[in-house]
Amino acid sequence: MNLAIQLLYLLICTTQIYGWYTCDDKTFCRNIRYKEFGESSFKLLADHATITHDSLFLDLVDTSRNKTFLLTVNCAFEQIHRFNIQDPEKRRFNPKESLQEFQFKENGNYIIANDRIITYCGPSTTTLYADPFRIEVHIYDTLIATANNDGKLVINTDDDDESISMDFEFMETERVYGIPLHAERLSLRNTGPGGTIPYRLYNVDHCCYAVDSQEPLYGSVPVLYAHGRRRTTGLFWLNSAQTFVDIQNNPDTTKTFFISESGEMDFYVLIGPTLEEATRQYTLLTGSANLPPQFSLGHHQSRYSYMSQYDLLSVVKNFDEHDFPVDVLWLDIDYTDNFKYFTWNFDAFPNPVEMQQTLNSTGRKLVVIIDPHIKVEEGYFVYDQGMENGYFVHNPDGSVFTGQCWPGLSTYIDFKNPHAQKWYSNLFDLDYFPSSTENMFIWNDMNEPVVFDQDEETMPNYLVHYDNWLHRDLHNMYGFLQTLGTWTGLMDRSLNTRRPFVLTRSHFAGSQRYAAIWTGDNLPTWEHLRVSFPMCLSEALAGISNCGADVGGFVGNVETELLQRWYQAGAWLPFFRQHSTKDSDRREPYLFPDDVQATIRKALRERYAHLQYWYTTFFEHELFGYPVIRPISYYYNNDINTLDIDDQWLVGKNILIHPVAEPQTSSINVYFPGGIETFWYSVEKNLMYFGVGNVQVETPIDYTPYFYRGGSIITRKNTLRRSSIDMQNDPYNIYVFLDNNNEAEGTLYVDDNISFDYKNNKSFLYYQLTYINGMLNMYTLDEDSHFEDKAFIESILVYRNPNQFEEGTKYIKLSTDNVLIKNNLNLKLKSGLQIKLL
Ligand SMILES: *[C@@H]1O[C@H](CO)[C@@H](O)[C@H](O)[C@H]1NC(C)=O
Ligand SMILES: *[C@@H]1O[C@H](CO)[C@@H](O)[C@H](O)[C@H]1NC(C)=O
Ligand SMILES: *[C@@H]1O[C@H](CO)[C@@H](O)[C@H](O)[C@H]1NC(C)=O
Ligand SMILES: *[C@@H]1O[C@H](CO)[C@@H](O)[C@H](O)[C@H]1NC(C)=O
Repeated sequence: MNLAIQLLYLLICTTQIYGWYTCDDKTFCRNIRYKEFGESSFKLLADHATITHDSLFLDLVDTSRNKTFLLTVNCAFEQIHRFNIQDPEKRRFNPKESLQEFQFKENGNYIIANDRIITYCGPSTTTLYADPFRIEVHIYDTLIATANNDGKLVINTDDDDESISMDFEFMETERVYGIPLHAERLSLRNTGPGGTIPYRLYNVDHCCYAVDSQEPLYGSVPVLYAHGRRRTTGLFWLNSAQTFVDIQNNPDTTKTFFISESGEMDFYVLIGPTLEEATRQYTLLTGSANLPPQFSLGHHQSRYSYMSQYDLLSVVKNFDEHDFPVDVLWLDIDYTDNFKYFTWNFDAFPNPVEMQQTLNSTGRKLVVIIDPHIKVEEGYFVYDQGMENGYFVHNPDGSVFTGQCWPGLSTYIDFKNPHAQKWYSNLFDLDYFPSSTENMFIWNDMNEPVVFDQDEETMPNYLVHYDNWLHRDLHNMYGFLQTLGTWTGLMDRSLNTRRPFVLTRSHFAGSQRYAAIWTGDNLPTWEHLRVSFPMCLSEALAGISNCGADVGGFVGNVETELLQRWYQAGAWLPFFRQHSTKDSDRREPYLFPDDVQATIRKALRERYAHLQYWYTTFFEHELFGYPVIRPISYYYNNDINTLDIDDQWLVGKNILIHPVAEPQTSSINVYFPGGIETFWYSVEKNLMYFGVGNVQVETPIDYTPYFYRGGSIITRKNTLRRSSIDMQNDPYNIYVFLDNNNEAEGTLYVDDNISFDYKNNKSFLYYQLTYINGMLNMYTLDEDSHFEDKAFIESILVYRNPNQFEEGTKYIKLSTDNVLIKNNLNLKLKSGLQIKLL
């Protein structure tokens, strides 16, 4: 890496904080946003309805210019209304790859009158008013959403302005969550007069971003949830062009206004009525993540860059010598020969295969970076093949587009081209990618995509992709399309037998099917630690649960206090990686004084102790679509205080976590939700808290406040090992936390941790555990599944409410009478197991 480029890059990073375009800078957006809208000029020809087995087609006329559009209405999964508007005279782009395959529901009833049409979808209906055109969605008799009620529907059809817009209102809601990624609170702010600028969705490389900001970042997921005490309604705006979103929160209704630069108008209303249901409905459309290989839920160690084979292996050795568990080591761009992806710098990495085998022999994996820009250099096989076959993005005159990135002059793979996709996937073939092994996984970076010498350091709108689509139409899904190719490559490489792991920076709706994400180039500051929580929560609600932030902050040196707190928090976000840039001091945990090491080791231990809980929660995400991490208001939204909480969260349903994200603090305020009949247990402190709201909790530097919900059963493995593989034979410890009725339940999922046999051959254990009448019961949730686990149950611990609630009590110290411990059990996991404990 050239130091000058690096410095230039840092300079650009810091100056760009103030340099991003807003709606006001973009003509298409300004024209729409500041337009005086009167009554909508759109009118439905209700008597022209055409009905097929799964669709209702209607002519929608813009009377101001006598132009007819085609409106299609569908119902998906009996809970999702879909509205699509096309121009019969001109095709418009639809990012359909973002959806997983599904069929619309067969038609139900319609009521067609002159002034309106009513369609049915499960318990809800759509009423399409003819003149002026507007849409209402009801659940039974309750109005939950409208579209075009303010008449702000716009469809521009000039070649140089294909922008579209639509207004929405959501009844009985008070807050809006979603439309990641922004460095912003979970609950979105009011935009417009008295508020902030609109939220911008436009994938860019935005280093060192400001927090509390509506500016664009690396990914865009155009789904939002209007949420509140009474209900949740979702809106998925399926569009991959640059988009601006206005938000208005009112006491009992929320409004949003979407403006996109181009593309077809295609949106889905998710009827909820809870946040849990609405997020599940969203994953019915865009899919849930495949169960990640278990190693990827462990701890990752990265650096920009480990500069040699020797450097990388000595990091591992040091981790082992100092008892820090780690599953994955990472190589940034410097492992390549002059930033030519799919090649190696053999001077620094003389024997990559041996390096990977050494990693493998200690139970570790390798991740290497593959970016979408390809160095312009004749004789470089990727460049030559791409040029020969026309696989790169083009200029309007048909020549190949080139721009500056890490290697200097570069071309960019056109992942929209199915032939280029296939070719790119094949590059991951073990025979093709020199010195790669099955032990190597992939990181896709700079895929917004980054072009240093272009406006906002990204690809210009006018470039041409396969089938003559403009870059403008698909900008926000470029990185998504790369990860589709990477995922497919890793699947093909193993003949579909091993689960891929891919990390991506740029992402879009549906990215969860192919990759994990992180929050990009953050800073070693307390506010960046703090903002990573709502950033990942917002992504989780938008389908992408596997999210984390660079532990310690990417750019610059981190203070040891912040680093320790960051490990404690990072251990409770799904993707857990330490990463830092070139000119920052090395910060591998073994480099710090013993007390700091002890704190970090403890945080890592807490992560690994709960690995099977994380794994089980990810399995249930795949099965049901529920996010892995959840805001407090996911379950407790009838308590208005929870609606704005985003400094604490839930992992699954049962673990409440409130990391410390402030310097030099000896205590923090934790919000315990659920009312006095809900209990939250701290095993470390032997305390039981009642769900009565704010409680001050002491936070010495080596303590992370996390709590188990009364009524849950959590399985842990408590022995500290080098990696997840080394824990496989370790015994389980089953923790039972009793609720108000002295009962509890939980689930446990186990499989081979790496293959697809859980899908192809039902090779897994999926058990329900219950505790009723002093008896722990274990039974299978899938009669056809089968798996022989090497591990056995060593101990069962039962935590009980001491029944000492008095008015004003916020927590109780548990005595030995309140905790029943059975050790040395040596029991095999099996369905039908019953253990009498009391
Ligand atoms: C509107 O356009 C249609 C054809 O698209 C035409 O038949 C009709 O006469 C036009 N109406 C007016 C008022 O121009
Ligand atoms: C990794 O090690 C395991 C066990 O020692 C072995 O079965 C496997 O083939 C190795 N994998 C690679 C890619 O070297
Ligand atoms: C997968 O990991 C779990 C948890 O450590 C372990 O109990 C199980 O035996 C592992 N599976 C295999 C096939 O090693
Ligand atoms: C499926 O699982 C069964 C039972 O464990 C095993 O005997 C069989 O070989 C497996 N089949 C495949 C295709 O892996």
